[in-house]
Amino acid sequence: MTQDELKQLVGQAAADYVNANVPEGAIIGVGTGSTANCFIDALAASKGRYRGAVSSSVATTARLEAQGFKIFDLNDIESLPVYVDGADEIDASGAMIKGGGGALTREKIVASVSEVFVCIADASKLVDVLGQFPLPIEVVPMARTAIGRRVTALGGVPVLRVKQDGSPFITDNGNEILDVKGLRISDPRTLEAHVNAWPGVVTVGLFASRGADLCLLGGAQGVERIEYRKA
Ligand code: 5RP
Repeated sequence: MTQDELKQLVGQAAADYVNANVPEGAIIGVGTGSTANCFIDALAASKGRYRGAVSSSVATTARLEAQGFKIFDLNDIESLPVYVDGADEIDASGAMIKGGGGALTREKIVASVSEVFVCIADASKLVDVLGQFPLPIEVVPMARTAIGRRVTALGGVPVLRVKQDGSPFITDNGNEILDVKGLRISDPRTLEAHVNAWPGVVTVGLFASRGADLCLLGGAQGVERIEYRKA
């Protein structure tokens, strides 16, 4: 199977999971990216079961609306039964690197108010140690260079994310992203807390203190269901 076919497979598996485990009339938290898009398209067949969705990005909002889902503002919601999203890397504890699509801040916010985080990924995303994929950090633009120096001191190589025309990529929140290469992240929780404390960091794309509860991992043998025990 191609990577795209695996994404469709786990998108459908996540829709099946939500239809089987989430009560009718619920509001669903929805992530961002090509795998999350497969989930949106698969869930559209049963959209009448749900009141709507809380979205993690402008792009996801457009996709959800095109499929006929009503969008809710997170400020009007107390909790979400489930949040479904992709990942750039996931380790054996359910800790993830996210933000390859630039939506890490809103993703982390929506995930934080969700009871169950379902990660959907193809098997290439499962790693022993996080860090092969560059770690995204969303930064307030005036802090970019100061944060870059701190990253370098940690042994990482910060690269400003740019668009095709060479101008900085700007997030939905009006900030920039540093993609950090060269880190071997053996203790993701500690690194997440450490980087989060730097002035000017909006969000680090480590999802470890609130990692996945369940991963639906697509591979040659089909969809593997991995549950994580939380400390
Ligand atoms: C977006 C994300 C995505 O979940 C992550 O980049 C994976 O994307 P894809 O499903 O397209 O491989 O964190 O900010």
